[in-house]
Amino acid sequence: MAAGFQYRLRRGGQPTSVEAWRQAARRALPGMVWAYLDGHADDGVTARANRDAFARWRLRQRVLTGHAAPDLRTTVAGQALSMPLALAPTGLTGLSHWSGDVACARAAEAAGTRLVLSTASSYTLEEVSAAAREPHWFQLYPFGDRAFVSAMLERARQGGYGALFVTVDVPVRGNREAEAVHGMTVPPTLTPASVFDAALHPAWWWNLLRHRRLAAANYVSSGLRGARAAVQSVRAQERFMQADLNWDDLAWMRDQWRGPLYIKGLTDPDDAQRAVDGIGVDGLVVSNHGGRQLDNMLATADALPAIAERVGDRCEVLLDGGIRRGTDVVKALCLGARGVFIGRPYVYGLAADGEVGVRSVLALLRAEIERALVLMGCPGVSQLDRSWLLPSTTGSDSP
Ligand SMILES: Cc1cc2nc3c(=O)[nH]c(=O)nc-3n(C[C@H](O)[C@H](O)[C@H](O)COP(=O)(O)O)c2cc1C
Repeated sequence: MAAGFQYRLRRGGQPTSVEAWRQAARRALPGMVWAYLDGHADDGVTARANRDAFARWRLRQRVLTGHAAPDLRTTVAGQALSMPLALAPTGLTGLSHWSGDVACARAAEAAGTRLVLSTASSYTLEEVSAAAREPHWFQLYPFGDRAFVSAMLERARQGGYGALFVTVDVPVRGNREAEAVHGMTVPPTLTPASVFDAALHPAWWWNLLRHRRLAAANYVSSGLRGARAAVQSVRAQERFMQADLNWDDLAWMRDQWRGPLYIKGLTDPDDAQRAVDGIGVDGLVVSNHGGRQLDNMLATADALPAIAERVGDRCEVLLDGGIRRGTDVVKALCLGARGVFIGRPYVYGLAADGEVGVRSVLALLRAEIERALVLMGCPGVSQLDRSWLLPSTTGSDSP
């Protein structure tokens, strides 16, 4: 990974927060890739709300409890995790850094956690499982073509993926205006501004041309890379995407997959109940796709309590969206989540410094969770509940 023109962090040393990794990623990436990675739907109301929802809660502090080494361990999908945090599926990681999903899987297992590999990953299911030591998890877009879905599930089974996450909040793609503005189209729209921007990122271009990880690798012809692969994968995705899928399709998927099954992309307690009672899912990810799909919908931390209350005793309730600090993880657990996922934060690390960057983001979030628990006087994540939260009393901040 050290070879060639790989981007290294030289300015200002190692980033010390997710926000600092975000700035490093911004510097490493051309504008069009940054628009894809950091963008949101419409006006970004929901993307911001995900952050604001955490800020409206305060943590309770109990002093002199003597808890110096809090226990961060938990289990998700029957697998022991060293902390209640894992990597959400993110497509096209190879655009952010050529080492893509392979680097993310390795960094996750080094940190004692897991990656949910995206359907639209830059490395195939087989490439990632061959490079990993631990069984990771697989995310499926519920495409309409059942033969294609069956084939994907069989590949996931063969690759030893330990759980399936079906993403249900993308019947159509959200409106990501920044991508269009920056020419993040297939093929890319080149303007004088984007060509100038590209010239400012020679290391990124060099690695892109060397490794050509441009496409969603799982649905292009074996071995095909580069621009032709990207066009083929986008066409395939357009063909497979089907807006009229319903609960029967999900029931069919439940029949096809015998292992742990999770639905990702719910914020409504009635939907959660239907998923548990009607489909028999093992868990749910309360998610709005990081504010990249329906704008103006509820923040995930605001949606979580009602869902946890309704089904939390019958399935694993997880959350993603807006986690940027260890204290956000702690608050999500207090509000009823068993664990959380991060999306953009680990891709910032990947973009700025490959596998080392993802490891660093995971290490800093672990340290932040641990420090928060020591300061709160809490013995471990299994002890977190609503009693550790207080509403903010500062006017518009209150929940
Ligand atoms: C660049 C990018 C690509 C994503 N691709 C996928 C995907 O392929 N499948 C999916 O279910 N979710 C995808 N997501 C959504 C994430 O899984 C997750 O829900 C979201 O990023 C969480 O919000 P956060 O970025 O604030 O942590 C993507 C998110 C980003 C930022």
